[in-house]
Amino acid sequence: MASSSNLLVFVSVAILLQLRLGFTSATSTKYINDICNRVRNSTFCFKTLNSYPPAVAATNKYQAAQAVLHLGESHALKTLSFIEKVAMMRSNLKQFKACQDVYKYIAMSFHVPTSLLKEAPDSANYDIMVCYDQTTIVNNLIGKNRDVASKKVMTMTMKMDVFINLADIATTVIGW
Ligand SMILES: *[C@@H]1O[C@H](CO)[C@@H](O)[C@H](O)[C@H]1NC(C)=O
Repeated sequence: MASSSNLLVFVSVAILLQLRLGFTSATSTKYINDICNRVRNSTFCFKTLNSYPPAVAATNKYQAAQAVLHLGESHALKTLSFIEKVAMMRSNLKQFKACQDVYKYIAMSFHVPTSLLKEAPDSANYDIMVCYDQTTIVNNLIGKNRDVASKKVMTMTMKMDVFINLADIATTVIGW
């Protein structure tokens, strides 16, 4: 009895593992694999792109990069609107104002026309790379703050860094 229930657990784990692996790479498109196999946070990359229809539907590297850029822009705008909401009632208003500027800049940098991706992918990549300096600015401004709003913005900023890395890789593989 004990051994058959052990077997059952073993089989379930094996099936779960297979589902998980299938989810992270076997079922991904070539374009998603090309990006996610090279980023720092592959698990997040596969999970996010495989559940984002425009990324799944991409049939070339430009569409795949656009999908990644769009996700990053959305996250930047979401963070911006959170900062705008909390900024007005803070004692550290000045810091939050500066963080708003950062996120406006990042959202703009992620808004890349497909024509630029095709004609000057290295220039699009440069614009994305500069965003790492922008999140460093946020870190320097509020990284040591202990209030809940600052901590939330820092969590969102760490996630922004992950999206910057994805966009960095997505615009890099275009040039290959
Ligand atoms: C990957 O990114 C997600 C989202 O920001 C984060 O929760 C997770 O901890 C990251 N994993 C690693 C290994 O960095």
